[in-house]
Amino acid sequence: MKTVALVGSLRKDSYNLKLVNHLATTYPELGIEVAEIGNLPFFNEEIEANPGQEVRDFQALVKDADAVVIATPEYNASIPAVLKNALDWVSRSGREMEGKKVLIMGASMGALGTVKAQIHLRDILDTLGVAAYVMPAAGGNDVFVGSVHEKFDEDGTLTDELTVQFIDAIVGRFKNFIKIDVSL
Ligand SMILES: Cc1cc2nc3c(=O)[nH]c(=O)nc-3n(C[C@H](O)[C@H](O)[C@H](O)COP(=O)(O)O)c2cc1C
Repeated sequence: MKTVALVGSLRKDSYNLKLVNHLATTYPELGIEVAEIGNLPFFNEEIEANPGQEVRDFQALVKDADAVVIATPEYNASIPAVLKNALDWVSRSGREMEGKKVLIMGASMGALGTVKAQIHLRDILDTLGVAAYVMPAAGGNDVFVGSVHEKFDEDGTLTDELTVQFIDAIVGRFKNFIKIDVSL
C-alpha cells in the first residue's frame, strides 16, 4: 500500500511533520511517503500544460497513491499557501486527487489545534476539481492536536499517551474507510 503525506509546514522541526513521522513508523503497512511540496512553483495556468519535472513527479506520486494523509498547521485561520498550491497542482486537468481517500489532521500550539484550517481544507477537498473523499468527521474523527509542543519530546517522539491512543483508533478507522467503495 502507498500513502502520500502532504505536510503543510516546511519547517524541518515541524510538529505536523513529526505527526506524520509518528504514523510512518507506527503503521509501516500504510507505506507513507512524504511529498516534497516546498519546491513546487506557484500554480499558474500559463504553465499548467508544461509545468516541469518537479510538478510532474508530484502529480505522479499522488496519482499512484492508494490514500493520502494531510497534516497541516493553521496559518491565520486557514491552511498554509504551500499546501493550497500543492492541492491546486493535483486538481483540474490531471485530477490526481479524484477519488482518493484522505485523512486530515493538524497540530498547533494553540488550544484549538487547527480547527479553522481543517474546515477550509475539507471545503477545498470536496470540490469538483479536487474531488477527494475525506474521512467523515462524524463519529469523532477530527484530529485536532492542540498544545502540540507539550506532546512531543525533544527527539520528536509522540509522548502524550491519550493522543497516541486516539491516533491509533483513527488510523484503524481510516484503514476501514480506505476499503469502502464510496463511488456514486
Ligand atoms: C504565519 C503564521 C500564522 C499562524 N496562525 C495561526 C492560527 O491562525 N492558529 C493557530 O492555532 N496557530 C497559528 N500559528 C502558529 C502555528 O500553529 C505554529 O507555528 C505551529 O507550530 C506550526 O506548525 P509546524 O510546527 O508544523 O510548523 C501561526 C503561525 C504562523 C507562522
